[in-house]
Amino acid sequence: MGRFEDRNAIVFGGTSGINLEIATRLAAEGARIFLVSRSQEKVDSAVSRIRSSGYSAAGHAADVRDYEAVDAAVKAAAEEGAIDIVVSGAAGNFLAPAADISSNAFRTVIDIDLVGTFNTARASFAAMRKPGASFIAISAPQAEKPMTSQAHACAAKAGINMLVKCLALEWGEQGIRVNAISPGPIDDTEGMRRLAGSDAAAQAIADALPLKRYGTKQDVADAACFLASQEGAYITGTILNVDGGTSLGTGRLV
Ligand code: COA
Ligand code: NAP
Repeated sequence: MGRFEDRNAIVFGGTSGINLEIATRLAAEGARIFLVSRSQEKVDSAVSRIRSSGYSAAGHAADVRDYEAVDAAVKAAAEEGAIDIVVSGAAGNFLAPAADISSNAFRTVIDIDLVGTFNTARASFAAMRKPGASFIAISAPQAEKPMTSQAHACAAKAGINMLVKCLALEWGEQGIRVNAISPGPIDDTEGMRRLAGSDAAAQAIADALPLKRYGTKQDVADAACFLASQEGAYITGTILNVDGGTSLGTGRLV
């Protein structure tokens, strides 16, 4: 028996990368998975991929910036019953210096990451199992660590960390746990392709980390399964770093 037998999970931004790995792991442990992202083609392909392993999956195209569309996706997912696990991981990022990025580009990242996370939480609230549901946002080290050419992502992810803590305060009474995972640099992802363009840059990033390697998508999925499971039953309002020590910085005086 898997840990999530007979549980319903919805994964926003679940059609590629880290979030698809989380969805696949939840499915492998018995959850019925509902995937949401903008592209219907990506939804169909990810649903087929999970089903081809013999697990249960369905999906719906929606942009997390569009509250009505998110609400419709949640209602479709809830046809299977109350939602036990919500993973909110849709995001957009690119390198852009603050003096160059347009106002619309800055707003776009805030809208996808921060407003999108709020939309998924707000729309899911009524459908989540009470008590027992687990909401997991996907944050990033940028939330706490200022980085050049990342003002937009830093501001958006910092907002997510605070949002998670506020929701944990408000929803604890109803038995809903709200947490975030902050992955460090994760191998074979769109996020790191955008931030570390070359193999040399990627190696330099890995060398600077206490654990001296990129994380894997499985590292993040392990943490998500832990937080979503009974093993995480007393954890709420936490930002769980799955980052090889990224958040510690270099540890050098200068
Ligand atoms: N550098 C600077 N500005 C950029 C940019 C870049 N690399 N890419 C897009 N923008 C700007 C656009 O020029 C536009 O601003 P403008 O109207 O002032 O010209 C604004 O951002 C919105 O771009 P648009 O292409 O309309 O946005 P979108 O909603 O279609 O796509 C993105 C959102 C830009 C975040 C896109 O990269 C995306 O869909 N990303 C998802 C995948 C991803 O980022 N994965 C990693 C997750 S960490
Ligand atoms: P990814 O493969 O690009 O995944 C992004 C997902 O979000 C895709 O499924 C994408 O599908 C969806 N998406 C994007 N914009 C959306 C929108 N407006 N509405 C709905 N869905 C949307 O990226 P990744 O690198 O695996 O990153 C996944 C998460 O981990 C993100 O939250 C990211 O910030 C976080 N993270 C990543 C790293 C890393 O090393 N990669 C490190 C720290 C944190 P569509 O294109 O179909 O919409």
